[in-house]
Amino acid sequence: QCVILDYGSQYTQLIARRVREQSVYSMIVPGDSTLERVTSYKPRLVVLSGGPNSVMAEGAPTVPDGLFEYCASEQVPVLGICYGLQLIVHSLGGEVVAGETREYGRMEVTTDLKSLLYHDEHSDKQMVWMSHGDVAKTLPDGFRVVGRSSTGAVVAIEHAERRIYGLQYHPEVMHSERGVETLRRALFDVAKCDRSWDMQSALDSQLATIRTKIGNTKHAVCALSGGVDSAVAATLVHKAIGDRLHCVFVDNGLLRYKEQERVRQMFKEHLHLPVTIIDASERQLTKLKGVSDPEKKRKAIGAEFIAIFQEFAEKLERDLGHKAEFLVQGTLYPDVIESCPPPGSGQKHSHVIKSHHNVGGLPEKLGFDLVEPLRWLFKDEVRKLGLLMGVPEVFIKRHPFPGPGLAVRCLGDVTAEPRALDVLRDVDEIFINALREFDLYDQIWQAFAVFLPIKSVGVQGDQRSHKHVVGLRAITSSDGMTADWFRFSGDFLAEVSNRITNQVSDVNRVVYDITSKPPSTVEWE
Ligand code: XMP
Repeated sequence: QCVILDYGSQYTQLIARRVREQSVYSMIVPGDSTLERVTSYKPRLVVLSGGPNSVMAEGAPTVPDGLFEYCASEQVPVLGICYGLQLIVHSLGGEVVAGETREYGRMEVTTDLKSLLYHDEHSDKQMVWMSHGDVAKTLPDGFRVVGRSSTGAVVAIEHAERRIYGLQYHPEVMHSERGVETLRRALFDVAKCDRSWDMQSALDSQLATIRTKIGNTKHAVCALSGGVDSAVAATLVHKAIGDRLHCVFVDNGLLRYKEQERVRQMFKEHLHLPVTIIDASERQLTKLKGVSDPEKKRKAIGAEFIAIFQEFAEKLERDLGHKAEFLVQGTLYPDVIESCPPPGSGQKHSHVIKSHHNVGGLPEKLGFDLVEPLRWLFKDEVRKLGLLMGVPEVFIKRHPFPGPGLAVRCLGDVTAEPRALDVLRDVDEIFINALREFDLYDQIWQAFAVFLPIKSVGVQGDQRSHKHVVGLRAITSSDGMTADWFRFSGDFLAEVSNRITNQVSDVNRVVYDITSKPPSTVEWE
């Protein structure tokens, strides 16, 4: 219902989120999409996002050819935000100039309560979040100013008849105190969108799409990682095609404490989803013998995973008498959004896919058609969808776990010390259980233990000991890209340290990692 043309703002995804929070389906397409692409979605509202460029710069992104004509003839309203407002002004014959002062941050604006964007406000003053250098100097014919900053700059414009609106500030960020209400008026009072998007309708439409794509006879495979995304994707596809979905879970010997049993129990007993569990730990650990370079470890694990998956697919083909044609992946919306490249990079819009996004990085050349049922969802929406389908909450709220597993938490050669992985699993389990017991788990983005390849001197039971050192890491983050270490109370850390040294006899020293990312990374390798 709402198509957002992306001009590279860091807030574009947030606009999409805010619209969906109003139960209106939104999608993001690159700013240089063709008109056909935009119109193929039959939008009720077109939003032009912000962006880092200046509309006056040579080669600055512009609207798809014919967009305004299409919107006029089909009566589709347009809302430009920040760069989007300037695009409207510039494209329709007004003038945009470099502002005398750049306006950044929170500021008060005065709005015209006669505009549909503000008509049921109780006051014509509100605080908004501004971030721009250019300003609209003269408006195109038929437009009028409906909001000004305290310095007199144009911050909101409208052409009520053509239903074209522009906001120089960012209504989607929470610092714009009544921004969401303004967006709501654009969606419902201006564009007459329906509140038809919710998780149940997303679920129903996804089931129909999957059934159409896979059909009534074909088979699909899915590699489960033990993480939320692959679990929700598999549950969804299983609902759509039943046991024609074949899931595989590879235990590569680098998993958390009792992970194989937990995954088996959850999928087979709780979700009734058949899973082939392959115990490849010996095979994987043999391949890791003597490998201590972190990137070589990652590559060895990825390559082995692909080999195991391929063997699983070949066996399945022999059993079925034909090949499974589809591969289900838990790719999420933020992983696939086509975004604007940085200004001046000379690149065209690129299809950005995070390298970590799919289980084991299965290459497309394996010859499957991809089914990515979560491609339109954000992480919290995936969690809601999982809950709606009966995936247990403890599973849904699990911290992220890296593909190479404990290998990146057991520094150096993971086979050098025969008990290293077991020690690491025991310590990690004690730490995670304590987080749950003290109600801290959900406040933390990711927490885990690290096994260090060193020993230190201690004193245990009147005797000197020479045993292992383990590190604990707990971070807060919104996406794993930047992170801060979690401030535990001293009492909590003391309790965890006691439990670890009392229960895991190989460890006599526990350290807590107090570095943020950057300069550190989340993982130790
Ligand atoms: P770093 O250590 O790069 O981690 O700060 C950021 C996030 O990514 C996870 N991570 C990985 N995930 N394969 C994965 O699937 C990997 O090789 C990998 N390395 C790091 C890490 O756990 C954190 O959530």
